[in-house]
Amino acid sequence: MARTAATPRPRDAAKAPGPQETRAFWRGEFRRVRTETEARAAKLSAEDQIVQSMADASPSKWHRAHVTWFFEQFLLKPHDPGYAGFDERFGFLFNSYYVAVGPRHARPQRGLITRPNGEDVTAYRAHVDAAVERLIENVPAAEAARVFAILEIGLHHEQQHQELLITDILHAFAQNPTDPVYDPSWQPPKPAVGPRGYADVPAGVQKVGHDGEGYCFDNETPRHDVLIPPVRIARHLVTNAEWLEFMAAGGYSTPSLWLSDGWAAVQAEGWQAPGYWRRQDGAWHSLTLGGLRPVDPQAAVMHVNYFEAEAFARFAGKHLPSEQEWEVAARAGLIADAFGTAWQWTRSAYLPYPGYRAAEGALGEYNGKFMVGQMVLRGSSLATPQGHARASYRNFFYPPARWQFSGLRLVEFI
Ligand SMILES: [Fe+2]
Repeated sequence: MARTAATPRPRDAAKAPGPQETRAFWRGEFRRVRTETEARAAKLSAEDQIVQSMADASPSKWHRAHVTWFFEQFLLKPHDPGYAGFDERFGFLFNSYYVAVGPRHARPQRGLITRPNGEDVTAYRAHVDAAVERLIENVPAAEAARVFAILEIGLHHEQQHQELLITDILHAFAQNPTDPVYDPSWQPPKPAVGPRGYADVPAGVQKVGHDGEGYCFDNETPRHDVLIPPVRIARHLVTNAEWLEFMAAGGYSTPSLWLSDGWAAVQAEGWQAPGYWRRQDGAWHSLTLGGLRPVDPQAAVMHVNYFEAEAFARFAGKHLPSEQEWEVAARAGLIADAFGTAWQWTRSAYLPYPGYRAAEGALGEYNGKFMVGQMVLRGSSLATPQGHARASYRNFFYPPARWQFSGLRLVEFI
């Protein structure tokens, strides 16, 4: 399962919204999220939407179809007895990792699927959109809470794929010597102004985890006590200027700065700079959503993986924050650019919170089965949809992953 409380809650409605207000709220939310996916994909050609540049990334067309399959599989089939499927083969093609649902197409080969084509996927989306809207309108009151709870999971799931759609296509564009532009008018987020330096994180026993206000995924629960040591956290994200110092000091060629697996990866991959960086005309450039642009020294560094973040912290004589330190600091309003620029690596392994249990059934596969071998990132990035992230949100990736908008901030122990 991917959430806790299952109560529909129109945000601006009175304390006890009527059934029609509740249905109207969810119809609005559904349309808003589905529209955003198409808006992101609309900047891509049909050819763009087919390509899969590595096993970790998926074609845009696949993202558009997979999030649709999610509603079909988990909402419509169990809760709309009259639902007629669009194409029975799509379950195999667009199931991602839900073993309980059945066999699925191999992930590394998603880019080989030219048919169904983009128009077919558009028709699939329209078919499911219409069915979901009918269900929102007609679901019996007794089932409404459960239906809207699954609908809400599907919307947050689709928002996660909206971000992946962007990061995956940027990785694909980075393989293209012509430096394709996703959006010519794209501008990077502006770094927050204000005091820099470090802030004391409230120490002692503190609460972390979702506080029950609004949506959350199940991995943000249960809320629990943690012991925060005396520690100061950087108000700012590590910048490109600071990263250039690391590079100039031989950061990528000094094995003592690196974890063993990290150093092996540096040698195997030949990393000498963050992802998508390239020397051109004597200066560092980076492939962004707006095309190849000079690296801005004042901007937050991005496209660094956990190994790089950890090596940088060692080089700086500091540490990465634990995810708990990050959350306490964010709730206390101590850190700038917590959200909306770059996900921030923490030194915390992605593990279940005390007492966490994944739900029974296929939706229980959403988060729980990935709690090994990955590291937690906190905050959100420039590609995260509006309203998707929060202080308790736990993102997670394998240590070598650098195709997300991932950066870091540091802590120092007192
Ligand atoms: Fe998914």
